[in-house]
Amino acid sequence: MPIVVSAENLTKRYGDLVAVDGINFSVEQGECFGFLGPNGAGKTTTIKMIQCVSPKTSGKLEVLGMDVDLYPKEIKRNLGVVPQENNLDPDFTVYENLMVYSRYFSIPKNEAKERIEKLLRFMQLEEKRDAIIERLSGGMKRRLILARALLNEPKILILDEPTVGLDPQARHLIWDRIRSLKKEGVTTILTTHYMEEASQLCDRLVIMDYGKILVEGRPEDLVREQIGTSILETKANPEVLSCLQKMKQEFEIVGDTIHIFTDSPSI
Ligand SMILES: Nc1ncnc2c1ncn2[C@@H]1O[C@H](COP(=O)(O)OP(=O)(O)OP(=O)(O)O)[C@@H](O)[C@H]1O
Ligand SMILES: [Mg+2]
Repeated sequence: MPIVVSAENLTKRYGDLVAVDGINFSVEQGECFGFLGPNGAGKTTTIKMIQCVSPKTSGKLEVLGMDVDLYPKEIKRNLGVVPQENNLDPDFTVYENLMVYSRYFSIPKNEAKERIEKLLRFMQLEEKRDAIIERLSGGMKRRLILARALLNEPKILILDEPTVGLDPQARHLIWDRIRSLKKEGVTTILTTHYMEEASQLCDRLVIMDYGKILVEGRPEDLVREQIGTSILETKANPEVLSCLQKMKQEFEIVGDTIHIFTDSPSI
């Protein structure tokens, strides 16, 4: 498959801080590629450079065969972006948010109307079309932003923590939609804190920390090599948590669920 994003020695500095420290990676057309890592690892900084909204300090970065410094407009036209922070317009309804956004891409009105109907159906937001933004649940807001990211029929979809703060049901719905976009051939790049999310969605991922890529691979291989062969799911409660901390067991908290990484799930 052709390479749609390639980075060589990509670096971003903020003053003395090296937020992204000479990383190398490439994303193939049609795959789902993930950046997994803790707060401050450099995930958002990396994808902002891909989106051409934050200039790189040094290194090479090409998106769809184009240099990010030379062709930002052409690149942006082909991207759909779900930012980490919700940035919907609170004064508008669901429908109006999509309509206003379609104008940024100069999509003709009739075409925009058709696409919006299709996307409202796809994201299961038809009943909320006339609701103002503050009346939406967290999951609905995320789904609306995903719908908005798809309005320009992007070649590459970029998702910065698509399900942050959502309950399991809302998260599963978004995962399901992302999988169905992948089946349609959309290349997806996502960031996440959750190994579980990366395992569910990504063909390949890198684990980042302190601006560097620590490892790269398929999720099943990384889970086996890094954290154990199995993931156990259980409800988060203080007793379970304190027990896990005492056992020095690897785990992550996702909403009200704990994922426990282990080689011996029966113990
Ligand atoms: N505009 C900025 N100015 C200065 N420092 C910044 C800026 N944006 C990010 N940083 C710093 O760069 C580092 C990487 O931040 P980044 O937002 O890329 O992390 P992240 O992996 O996305 O984290 P999170 O999981 O919390 O979203 C952090 O130390 C952060 O404080
Ligand atoms: Mg981030």
